[in-house]
Order: sequence, then C-alpha cells, then structure tokens
Amino acid sequence: PTIYCITPTYARPEQKAELTRLSHLFMLASNLHWIIVEDSEVQTQLVKNLLTQANLNKRSVVLNIKTPDQFKLKGKDPNWKKPRGAEQRNLALEWIRQNADPNKRSMVFFMDDDNTYTVELFREIAKIEEGHVGVWPVGLVGGLMVEKPLLNENNQVIGFNAAWRPERPFPIDMAGFAISTDLLLKFSKAVFSYEVERGYQESEILRQITARVDLQPLADLCTKVLVWHTRTEKTKLVYEEKLIKSHQERSDQGIEV
Ligand code: UGA
Ligand code: MN
Repeated sequence: PTIYCITPTYARPEQKAELTRLSHLFMLASNLHWIIVEDSEVQTQLVKNLLTQANLNKRSVVLNIKTPDQFKLKGKDPNWKKPRGAEQRNLALEWIRQNADPNKRSMVFFMDDDNTYTVELFREIAKIEEGHVGVWPVGLVGGLMVEKPLLNENNQVIGFNAAWRPERPFPIDMAGFAISTDLLLKFSKAVFSYEVERGYQESEILRQITARVDLQPLADLCTKVLVWHTRTEKTKLVYEEKLIKSHQERSDQGIEV
C-alpha cells in the first residue's frame, strides 16, 4: 500500500538538514509518497532542489500555505497557543481527499520534519487495516523516555501511559499514529483546528474519526520504539548576525545551506 507522509515545514537555518534526513528514508522505502507543505506564501527553491537531488519528484507533491499571523480567537488567553502545522496538515488532507484512489489501500501519517524515523516503522504502518488507526510507542516525548499505548490481555488498547495531560482523549504524539485513508474519506470533514489547547491537536483529529476500541496496536504490540520525537537545537549564528549587521558578505552568499 501507499503511505502518504504529510510534512509541514518552514524556512529556518536547519530546514535543509532536517529534510535531507527525511529524504533518505524515502529513498529506502519505495511505497512512501511525500506531501510536503511549506509554511510559506511561496514554494521555495530549497525544497524543489532537495526533491530533485533525492530523485523524489515522482513520489512527492509540494503544497504551500502560510500560517496566518493572527488567528487567536480567544484574544490574549495564555492557555491557547499557536498550533504548529495545523493549516499545512489540513491542506494536505484536502489534497489526499481529492487525489487518493478510494479503491486502493493506503495510509496517512503526519511526519514532522524534525523527528527520527526508522524504516521499520513504515513496514508497521503498512499493516493498518481498513477502518483503523494504528498506534505505537514514541520515544523521548511528553517528559518520558517513551509514551506508549497500554494493552489488555486481548491485545486491545485500553489506555496510555502519558504523564503530561493524561486526561486528553488520545494522549499521544503526532508521531505515534497513522490512519487508514478510508477513514479520512468517510469522515470527510475531519480536520485540525487552531482553537484547541496545546497538546490537543492529535486528540482533535482522532476523536473525529475513531474511538479507543478501534485502535490497532503495532510495533510488536507496542513493545518497540520505532520513532523518536527528537528536536533540533536552534543554531547559534552570532558571527553571521555580525556580518549582516556590518553589511559584510554573508557566509552563505551563493551557497544553499
Ligand atoms: C509537537 C508535535 O509533535 C507536533 O506534531 C505538533 O504539531 C506540535 O507539538 C504542536 O503542538 O503544534 P513540536 O516538536 O513541539 O511538536 O513541533 P515542531 O516540530 O516545532 O512543529 C511540528 C511541525 O510543524 C514540523 O514539521 C515543523 O516544521 C512544522 N512547523 C512548525 C511549521 O510548518 N510552521 C511553524 O511555524 C512551526
Ligand atoms: Mn518537533
């Protein structure tokens, strides 16, 4: 089956490094289709070059939509935080609903650009049955070494070990689940929202399309970590900033970094 991998991404110094790591995964797994959604008013040459370099033009699509600067419906409420990637993921869902062949089995995975993914993870995602959402452990997230679904003796998901906001309907990270595409076609209005509290993005989409009893445990009954919620340190560019301030030539003049 085809696995549609939705990656919201935005320009920053580390972007090409992040996307390069992901592109290698696509080179290793031929059944992946990459939907890159740039958080930008325009599509960038950097992303185009990267896909060409990795020979992924036929297995990818680039979309773009900029996150609106101001959408805080609740004014200055400190409990409401700008969700990252929501607008971009919704555009990708629209693309999938228009372009995925409803007669072919496929899955949708929300693949952030900074996490660390194994090839094995995608072999697991391919096992997701029609009408189901696959779930598995995620390393290094939620203040724990691993956040994971909890199973009963019949191998059904009966809960989660999350310590951070465990009261969430689905207390799991975006990297911890994938969806059989038929569910997204069936629940054609299911989308991400700006208006949810921090950490509720995953619950927001999942509550619209599934219930806990319908979750399909993967990664050897949720005993293996096949993905890590890594975050890249922000690069210190003190000398680059000095160059810019003093109107000297930038170090990356004429070189894509
Ligand atoms: C956590 C989750 O793992 C994300 O899936 C979730 O979107 C996010 O929280 C949230 O609460 O909104 P975190 O590591 O904090 O992730 O988020 P980032 O990795 O910074 O961003 C998630 C994705 O959105 C990345 O692919 C990133 O490139 C993209 N993004 C981020 C944008 O497209 N625009 C931005 O301004 C920021
Ligand atoms: Mn991240």
